[in-house]
Amino acid sequence: MVNTIFGKSLISVLDITPAEIKLIFNRTSQMRKLVMTKGGDDRLKHRIMTALFYEPSTRTFSSFISAMQRLGGGIIPLNGMKNTSVEKGESFHHTVQVFSRYSDCLVIRHYQVGLPRLATNYITKPVINAGDGFGEHPTQALFDVYTIIEKLGQLDGLTITLVGDLKFGRTVHSLSQLLARLSTQVVINLVAPTQLRMPVDITENLQNRKVKIQETDNLDEVLPQTDVLYVTRVQKERFDDLSEYEKLKSYYIVDKKKLKTAKKKMIIMHPLPIAAGEIQNEVDSDSRSVYLNSELSNGLYLRMALLDLILNK
Ligand code: NCD
Repeated sequence: MVNTIFGKSLISVLDITPAEIKLIFNRTSQMRKLVMTKGGDDRLKHRIMTALFYEPSTRTFSSFISAMQRLGGGIIPLNGMKNTSVEKGESFHHTVQVFSRYSDCLVIRHYQVGLPRLATNYITKPVINAGDGFGEHPTQALFDVYTIIEKLGQLDGLTITLVGDLKFGRTVHSLSQLLARLSTQVVINLVAPTQLRMPVDITENLQNRKVKIQETDNLDEVLPQTDVLYVTRVQKERFDDLSEYEKLKSYYIVDKKKLKTAKKKMIIMHPLPIAAGEIQNEVDSDSRSVYLNSELSNGLYLRMALLDLILNK
């Protein structure tokens, strides 16, 4: 299959076709094998990736770094812009131009929606969106879907319940739209308090794709039919009024008791971090939980696959 991803940016899940997603997933499985058998190889030798993170990150940042290094590549790792000229007032425009001269691709996380897309106007090197404000987080959605298929076999026929901060959560913005792009046979439950409902432009998008969606604030009502329970953190940093955040942060608590009515074959996902006990520690060891194992490892394999496809013809 021709690699149509070569040299391309990835800003939104809507930028890639189902055929390209298949290509990424196939390569992800190969990367899994490669890591398990040899740890990696040198296919990205002499290539450099800049990780330009204007917002905090643990997993996205370090898995991109690990991905590049496992394939023999080099990195310019900026986790926070504190010790850069951004502190002196350098513009985004100039900053991305600088790093596009020093490296072959830029992985950008920014607190403002749209900035990774804007970067593609300034530079010709590929840009990967690692999360833009309350916009999107396409690589997270890709390995989340990969994990769902790995664990449950296929998307068709699944009921996927997204719960928590659907308003500000960029992971669920990307995930819901990616699911709708790949299957019309999924049911998506959108579970959130009124204040944190999924933005209308996204629900309209989902409806246009003919996916069945159901909006509610009651998790108990939809849990028994759920195949994938995807829990999210209430995004504290997006609130102007922190007392509002305090009211909402523990609106849903998933614990052993809550899971009594859930299917035995369900999987429990969370992009992490768990910040307000939205999933209780006792659930970590539940055999259905994947957020501390395959969801993490697949993030590494998928990012290896993506860097390989973007940087190698
Ligand atoms: C998410 C993010 O940054 O959007 N984290 C991550 O990349 N895994 C989710 C979150 O911060 O709540």
